[in-house]
Amino acid sequence: MKKMPKILVYLFVLMVALCLTACSSGQEETPPADNEQQQEVTPSPDEQQEPQADNSTILVAYFSRTGNTETVAGLIAEQLGADLYAITPAEAYPEDYQQALEIAQQQQDDDARPELADTDLDLSAYDTVFIGYPIWYGYEPMIIRTFLESYDFSGKTVIPFCTSGGSTISASEQSIAALIPQATLLEGITISGSSAADAGAEVTSWLTDLGLLTTQGE
Ligand SMILES: Cc1cc2nc3c(=O)[nH]c(=O)nc-3n(C[C@H](O)[C@H](O)[C@H](O)COP(=O)(O)O)c2cc1C
Repeated sequence: MKKMPKILVYLFVLMVALCLTACSSGQEETPPADNEQQQEVTPSPDEQQEPQADNSTILVAYFSRTGNTETVAGLIAEQLGADLYAITPAEAYPEDYQQALEIAQQQQDDDARPELADTDLDLSAYDTVFIGYPIWYGYEPMIIRTFLESYDFSGKTVIPFCTSGGSTISASEQSIAALIPQATLLEGITISGSSAADAGAEVTSWLTDLGLLTTQGE
């Protein structure tokens, strides 16, 4: 058989190498194998509802590791025309689900107060503060406790909300009430983490029950 010229052999090897690089660069990371889902914020489904008044004194503060609580926070802020604030730990929780479970469990066992990335929020500008978080081991993550203890909630109305894989908000409502006894706590809501993006109507009905949204024309 006739031998292939060397230059053709080099060209062939180069083409195979280029193809392998191109094929591998488009791969996506596999999401963690838990019941958490990244969701996108969707517009409010109920256009007949409108904020009761000027809501510039309402803050929606939330902590979210994988985006579900952030989605619900976005829905609340959008429907009320309120401000949004992300509660951010100085040291981010791991993306790895197993590692996050271990750290969260350890912090809960130690009754830890993980450090916040910043504490320069001007809370005095707000009368009403929504506090959102994922349920971790039945309760609010310890970073929420740090946040509540870092600011003066005297005289504020506080409304908790959470996302979870099935647990309800009730245990965390009790622990939040004990942490900020100077605040008035209103009834919170539990949203399923996997349907956070579809929670617009549920959020509307809860905000209406709280008297923060009214039906147009009323
Ligand atoms: C450390 C950890 C502990 C969790 N513990 C619970 C739990 O006790 N009950 C529950 O229903 N879901 C639990 N989950 C699931 C989360 O509450 C749920 O996925 C939530 O929607 C995540 O919100 P995020 O995307 O805003 O972080 C846990 C998740 C993690 C990472």
